[in-house]
Amino acid sequence: MKVRSPGMDFSKIRPHWARIPEFAQSYNAFSIVPAHIEPYLMKVMRRAKDVLDPKHARLHDDIAVFNKQEMEHCKHHVAFNRALYEAGYEGMKAIEKPYQQDYVRFLKDKSLRFNVAYCEGFEALGCASAQAFFEDLDEYLAGADGEALDLWKWHLAEEFEHREVCYQVYKTLYGNGPFAYLYRVAVFIYAVRHIGSYTGRVQKYLLDVDRASMTEAERQASLEREKVLAKRVAKKSFKRLLAVLSPFYDPGKRKPSPGMQEILDRYDPAANPA
Ligand SMILES: [Fe+2]
Ligand SMILES: [Fe+2]
Repeated sequence: MKVRSPGMDFSKIRPHWARIPEFAQSYNAFSIVPAHIEPYLMKVMRRAKDVLDPKHARLHDDIAVFNKQEMEHCKHHVAFNRALYEAGYEGMKAIEKPYQQDYVRFLKDKSLRFNVAYCEGFEALGCASAQAFFEDLDEYLAGADGEALDLWKWHLAEEFEHREVCYQVYKTLYGNGPFAYLYRVAVFIYAVRHIGSYTGRVQKYLLDVDRASMTEAERQASLEREKVLAKRVAKKSFKRLLAVLSPFYDPGKRKPSPGMQEILDRYDPAANPA
């Protein structure tokens, strides 16, 4: 695991950066997540570090790198989202605000066990999303603009790279018994629904803005493309997410997808000295 800072420029980004605009908008909606969840992840992991026995030296080191990676992801997505606001989608902010406040509330009111389990739930989702992006979406990604594509590829490849950190923190602090397992699964389901409720609203908003200037025929075609995409993603994600529900789930055993290492090497600070 390494910290990489690609320093990407989103000033010329097109909101419809993929051939199928509904696909681009669904990922644009997902981009609100790192902007708000990643500062929360860092805070939860810092709290976990405080109670984690120093004998788990490797995990302490992994948390430090994990937090630095998440900080870079957050910075890049905040810049990307700013480009979306400037392109005419400023209404996203109103949906993001209560989402951000939820994390403030979690940190204030919820137990460390809940927060660590929530972080692990998100990381499990991130790991599955990374594999989906690199393996299942070729037809949607073909011909996409480089800036947006590279943002997601770099971010998701690092999500895959650090997939085990929160899982190990959860297991080390709370064990691997039946209660720890059931609690992990329950909070995973909660996290998926919680995040999905906000990204779903942002996606609807983005597509509503686009459709406002469409003819009726264009609107119908857009609705149809959205339906096909949702069906396709649901079918592919089901199997990947089902694996997280298993008592034998172990993200460390998942094999990297083709192309992940290549993008990690591209932004390796050792390969690109300042
Ligand atoms: Fe991240
Ligand atoms: Fe992550």
